[in-house]
Amino acid sequence: MNLAKAKPEKKGEKEKEWTISEVLKWTTQYFCKNNISEARLDAEALLSSVLSLERLKLYLEFDRILEKEVLDRYKRLIKKRLEFIPVAYLVGQKEFMGLDFFVNKHVLIPRPETELLVETVINKIKEGFFCSAGKKTEEEKIVEETIPQIVDLGVGCGNIAVSIAKYVKNCKVYALDVSRKCLEVAFQNSKTNKIEDKITFLLGDLFYSLEGYDLRNKIDFIVSNPPYIKDTEFDNLPLEVRQEPYLALNGGKDGLDFYNRIISQSLIYLKEGGYLILEIGDGQKEEVTDLIKKEDLCFVQVVKDYSGIDRIILAQKKILKGKIN
Ligand SMILES: C[S@@+](CC[C@H](N)C(=O)[O-])C[C@H]1O[C@@H](n2cnc3c(N)ncnc32)[C@H](O)[C@@H]1O
Repeated sequence: MNLAKAKPEKKGEKEKEWTISEVLKWTTQYFCKNNISEARLDAEALLSSVLSLERLKLYLEFDRILEKEVLDRYKRLIKKRLEFIPVAYLVGQKEFMGLDFFVNKHVLIPRPETELLVETVINKIKEGFFCSAGKKTEEEKIVEETIPQIVDLGVGCGNIAVSIAKYVKNCKVYALDVSRKCLEVAFQNSKTNKIEDKITFLLGDLFYSLEGYDLRNKIDFIVSNPPYIKDTEFDNLPLEVRQEPYLALNGGKDGLDFYNRIISQSLIYLKEGGYLILEIGDGQKEEVTDLIKKEDLCFVQVVKDYSGIDRIILAQKKILKGKIN
């Protein structure tokens, strides 16, 4: 039995019919033989996408015979998966923070560890963190003290910006990226998640596009999952990861290019007491902490991911004039 060559062996013979159960079993073995790591899961994800059926519902329809047209589409996806194209690109979707995100080859596929960054921001806001600095009118104070202003630098498909806007009732998010294609995807995701009114999408290098928005010393949180792979590490990345945009991955010679620039420039936009929250790569904690300590920032905390790797780093802009409310 071979799904890849599912043609009748003799003239006049009927083509084999495949049930969901048979197709999944065959594909899992085929993927295993071809070094696809999450063989069963991938087979299920591809089939549920072709059938527009939730993955778990495949189990309720195990004996369903698949139509030829469905099988043909499924076979095309299997072929592409063997070229190590990630499943998320093939099905055009990835879940993050319980929300659905459209993804394509122009954006990084959201990773589960990045959810920790979002949770850190949400928890800080829930704890009632707000800070104010400078002279303001009473009206400005009320708005700024009740609506946290957040910058997401390098928005990608919008997973961080959209999740924060979705889960924090009142907030204003500025979503920045140097890639127009990323911003288009992120905007689309903000619309499907019905929070486009809370996000301003801006195109440009790092913070450049914020100029003209009168946001200096006004931002409560700057968050970023910047590109952090070293030049020399790129060729050793798994084939699948190398299908993702180079622009989203490459962090320069030592992987620290973006941390250098973000950490120093964040001081322009953060309020006193405002937080800089960054995702970091495995083994980058010491170097990034050193960069933070060189600036008017206090190192606050590191959050480990589920594998025990230091993953999220929090720093706070020093408070020179007053204290945080
Ligand atoms: C590692 S991805 C993160 C994407 C998304 N925030 C996430 O967590 O999955 C880094 C993002 O930074 C963007 N980027 C790269 N260079 C940039 C620059 N100079 N200015 C702004 N964004 C940049 C890339 O286009 C990419 O979307």
